[in-house]
Amino acid sequence: MVWWFFVPKMVFGEDALSELELVKGKKAIIITDKVIEGFGFPEKVKKTLESNGWQVIVWNGAEPDPRVSIVQEAAKAMSDFGADTIIAIGGGSVMDTAKAGWVLYARPDMDLEALSPFDTLGLKDKASLICIPTTAGTGSEATRAIVVREDESGRKFATSNPELMADMAILEPTFVKDLPKDLTAYTGMDALTHAVEGYTSVWKNDFSDATTMKAVQMVFEWLPKSVDDLANLEAREKMLVAAALAGMSFSNSQVCLAHSLGHSLGSVLRIQHGMAVGMALPYTIEFNAHDNPESAKHYWELGRLIGIEEKEHEKGARLFATKIRELQDRVGFPKSLKEAGIAKGDFDEGLEKLVDFAMMDSSITMTPRPIESADIKKIYEYMYEGKHVDF
Ligand SMILES: NC(=O)c1ccc[n+]([C@@H]2O[C@H](COP(=O)([O-])OP(=O)(O)OC[C@H]3O[C@@H](n4cnc5c(N)ncnc54)[C@H](O)[C@@H]3O)[C@@H](O)[C@H]2O)c1
Ligand SMILES: [Fe+2]
Repeated sequence: MVWWFFVPKMVFGEDALSELELVKGKKAIIITDKVIEGFGFPEKVKKTLESNGWQVIVWNGAEPDPRVSIVQEAAKAMSDFGADTIIAIGGGSVMDTAKAGWVLYARPDMDLEALSPFDTLGLKDKASLICIPTTAGTGSEATRAIVVREDESGRKFATSNPELMADMAILEPTFVKDLPKDLTAYTGMDALTHAVEGYTSVWKNDFSDATTMKAVQMVFEWLPKSVDDLANLEAREKMLVAAALAGMSFSNSQVCLAHSLGHSLGSVLRIQHGMAVGMALPYTIEFNAHDNPESAKHYWELGRLIGIEEKEHEKGARLFATKIRELQDRVGFPKSLKEAGIAKGDFDEGLEKLVDFAMMDSSITMTPRPIESADIKKIYEYMYEGKHVDF
């Protein structure tokens, strides 16, 4: 079987932003949100490009977990302006708005949910895409995935296409330095979840394994340092790199159960993405590794990378889940839905929908252990109480 490994051009290190001086084009639209605009990052990029003769506009309408209607507005702005370059400056929500907007700009006929990896879109004929992340987590700057929310049901859906890869990603640590402590922890745990799921999904491969292994080590080393000192630019840069490596990993091997559970938590209970998937991660490790030797071995291998010496695979996998919970405690990250402050009444009321949406999520098929809705319901119940999965 033929496999591919897609990555954009990555620009990182001190003064990475100066790479913009070398970019060719005439009309750039900056896609961002009002919070990021308030930090002045889009203005900084706009001025750099304008001094090189570009025409630049800023569209600041992105929202967390973008709805299809917001993506349509972004696409309209791209089209009205006739952009030849799209520059996303923001977190995963902004980058996904830009990527999904790029699809509708090139292909207004396209139904985003029907988008498949096999569609030919002609995106690069219309515009090129540069991503500048302001969170260190989603890795969307290095993935060919998008996550969008249906307007009516609020259900998040993920889809991908090889053309959805940015031409260039610029990892600029000063753009992440204002990220508050809670979002630093949530988004950092998203990166870890991508890495772990990228290493254990049914599509894992040697290239994704390599990027994963480095990302897992980096998150364990640098996330606590980022949270302890938000102004530590070295830690910020290392987490940006870890998130991009983890993005490359899962973009080429897929995420699985923690993301299905997490997308559903984002849809039904509006829990921030990184908090949702990161919280789900240890529970899904315990589930996937249970009586499932091949999968247990993969988690055991990741555990060895961070110093776990256990010889037996399933035990090693469970210890790895425990290490992740210890990291969560260390960075102030909730380990259960109860700890996250979700009211029991809201959880009980949403449970049926949580299960239904998780079963509909595209990542569920990549999970390395067969799973049914009754298992999902039970995992959510354990997640609410913080009980370790034992089935
Ligand atoms: N396409 C992909 O490959 C991919 C991968 C993982 C997640 N996602 C999606 O990305 C979204 C989550 O993205 P996210 O976790 O980056 O959060 P986000 O983009 O939703 O941002 C969360 C909040 O943080 C603010 N923010 C962003 N950067 C900031 C900064 N530097 N300082 C202060 N505030 C800042 C934003 O304005 C927003 O209010 C979800 O919708 C998720 O499903 C996509
Ligand atoms: Fe994610």
